[in-house]
Amino acid sequence: MTDGFSAALLDWWCTARRDLPWRDTRDPWAILVAELMLQQTQVDRVTGPWRAFLAAMPDPAACAAAGAAQVIRRWEGLGYNRRAVHLHAAAVQMVERHDGRVPDDLASLLALPGVGPYTARAVRVFAFERDDAVVDTNVARILARTSGERLTASVVQRLADDLVTPGRGWAHNQAMLDLGARICRPTPHCPDCPVRAWCRWELDGRMGQDPARGSAGVSGGQSRFEGSDRQGRGRLVDTLRRRAVEAHELAVVCGWSDDAARAERVAERLVADGLARCDGATYRLPDVVGDPGLESTSPA
Ligand code: ADE
Repeated sequence: MTDGFSAALLDWWCTARRDLPWRDTRDPWAILVAELMLQQTQVDRVTGPWRAFLAAMPDPAACAAAGAAQVIRRWEGLGYNRRAVHLHAAAVQMVERHDGRVPDDLASLLALPGVGPYTARAVRVFAFERDDAVVDTNVARILARTSGERLTASVVQRLADDLVTPGRGWAHNQAMLDLGARICRPTPHCPDCPVRAWCRWELDGRMGQDPARGSAGVSGGQSRFEGSDRQGRGRLVDTLRRRAVEAHELAVVCGWSDDAARAERVAERLVADGLARCDGATYRLPDVVGDPGLESTSPA
């Protein structure tokens, strides 16, 4: 079954593949940056910032030396800013422990801040061309449907591993990501699916509930942004990218002029997450001491 599945998938992929810039490189640092940016951010919003980031910080040493504040600034437009803090901390770790290089063994990759099972394997597969299997929400959805049941995390990883044809890991994994993005979407396009002959859910006539619902690794979609803490937090980080913020301004900057307590809670969480520091009553990006050009308290 697995040979036929992978062959049919790769056949389809020859003509259906997405042309994405991080697929033209095997530079492990460029791949790691792409994978961190692609977590929870759509592909077309990542392309520009990814290129700009790598032009400014072409390797872990440049990123580590630039400091967390600059990495946070370069994260503008991508959201989920904690990833920037993690990326900087990972770069520092690579300089300190790995001679400034991205490691290729799973344990060292998993020990990097912000790097989980998906990202660690993605670096191994897409940079070092190892025959591992990556499992993100797309792949987890495909595997739940093809096996026709809700799966546990360890079963999903085993099923994914079993599908990889030795020597074809790079293309197989790219194809799985594209299948999830183009065909086996949350609302699937089964008539166009190249692996429908291997799909238990399809063979059973897609009766009953979608097996992907509630299966391990399948996300339920992002929560509402409008009016959320995430929105206020994003506004505060956007302002901190340009200037320091005084405590008395927090509510206005977050967009909640009638809820100072909420703004203060959000600001404190930013500090706890390493995205800001607070000196007395002034909030700034981390490790920014002077930097008068970018940090003046006049309105941006
Ligand atoms: N190619 C490599 N990694 C990818 C990802 N996370 N999303 C889309 N395409 C990719």
